[in-house]
Amino acid sequence: MSNQEEAPIYMATVSAPTNIACIKYWGKADKHWNTPTNDSVSVTLDQSDLRAVTTAAASSKFTQDRLWLNGIEDEGAPTNKRFRACVDGVLKLAKNPQKWKGCKIHVSSYNTFPTAAGLASSAAGYAALVAAMSALVDAQEEFPGQLSTLARQGSGSACRSLYGGFVAWRKGGEKEDWSDSLAQQVQDEHHWPELRALILVVSDAKKDTSSTAGMSTSVATSTLLQHRIDKVVPDRMIEIEKAFSEKDFEAFGKVTMRDSNQFHAVCMDTYPPIFYMNDISRMVVRIVHAYNAWAGEIRAAYTFDAGPNAVLYTLDQYVVEVGALMKHYFPETGAVSDYINNAEYIEQVQKFSLSPELLEATDKTGRVPASGDVKQFYYTKSGPGPLTLSMEESNLDPKTGLNT
Ligand code: DP6
Repeated sequence: MSNQEEAPIYMATVSAPTNIACIKYWGKADKHWNTPTNDSVSVTLDQSDLRAVTTAAASSKFTQDRLWLNGIEDEGAPTNKRFRACVDGVLKLAKNPQKWKGCKIHVSSYNTFPTAAGLASSAAGYAALVAAMSALVDAQEEFPGQLSTLARQGSGSACRSLYGGFVAWRKGGEKEDWSDSLAQQVQDEHHWPELRALILVVSDAKKDTSSTAGMSTSVATSTLLQHRIDKVVPDRMIEIEKAFSEKDFEAFGKVTMRDSNQFHAVCMDTYPPIFYMNDISRMVVRIVHAYNAWAGEIRAAYTFDAGPNAVLYTLDQYVVEVGALMKHYFPETGAVSDYINNAEYIEQVQKFSLSPELLEATDKTGRVPASGDVKQFYYTKSGPGPLTLSMEESNLDPKTGLNT
């Protein structure tokens, strides 16, 4: 094109989900390729409330690669190794590589959930980056899961957000370039429609140790982590994939809770120790166990990532009871509509009357209902992988390619 002003701007916009692991990724086998010391598996969450929305644009009239995050330009990002691995990796898979020669890339991404909520956003963010770039250049995978190997280099857990439902990350390591360290869908989001997730955003003023830094110290110092890698995770992966496939909540919930507990035990075994859960997190654990003991079966299962927030998995038939129980012990500070994300669910929870015997059992945990300890409560379920959005939902101006 002779006149640079006339050069077209190509754009694509996608949304991508977050995911919550049931068997945790903790420890890197190869820092350069960002590959894990063990397999992991997670539930991809529905995108109605929690998602990253990313627009990628390419044009020969752009003078440099640029990235905006939540509306603010991140000037260091285009030279960042994680960003480059995703963008350059997808460009190499473009259907028509010639078309993109001489183009620079603009990316704008935002999360629909407040960053202040402390919910892991890197998984959704890097999955959205890879998916947006892939939609932009019509990337052609050379083998299934190849795009997930790129998202993995952005953030490990991001590889699992490229698929919906129940997704495993196979650690790989047979191939020298780690191209076998990739995500695989175990079951899609329609397989277990009764499964529900509740996220309790626990107030915490302290800044967490980043996952990357925490893992590095754990690999260097925790002997429990080595035992976990060799002896525990391989069997648990088989067990949980079977449980999920058979929709066996009892088995699924038990492995999920035990794996979360072991991950936090590894953090404690790290030297110096890392504390992600706090007193409120531990109280949620106690209440869940008291509830399950009262029910005589596992109706709710907790899991905690690198922070104090609790994610509870449960089934449709118990989700109102579990929500009512949590709301009883961790009531809202202000309007309930600012606390719980789903109006229909709020109504059901408010109407539900908890059994006095249940409260008698859960009161034994020592918890006295008090507001302020949980600041947000999300009701959600499993959902699909990245979705392509229309031009109207773009974060970049189609005429200038600048953040809108
Ligand atoms: C506790 O994927 O955030 O959430 O690869 O260094 O970016 P990096 O780490 P990240 O770690 C997630 C750890 C976890 C467990 C999990 O999601 O499997």
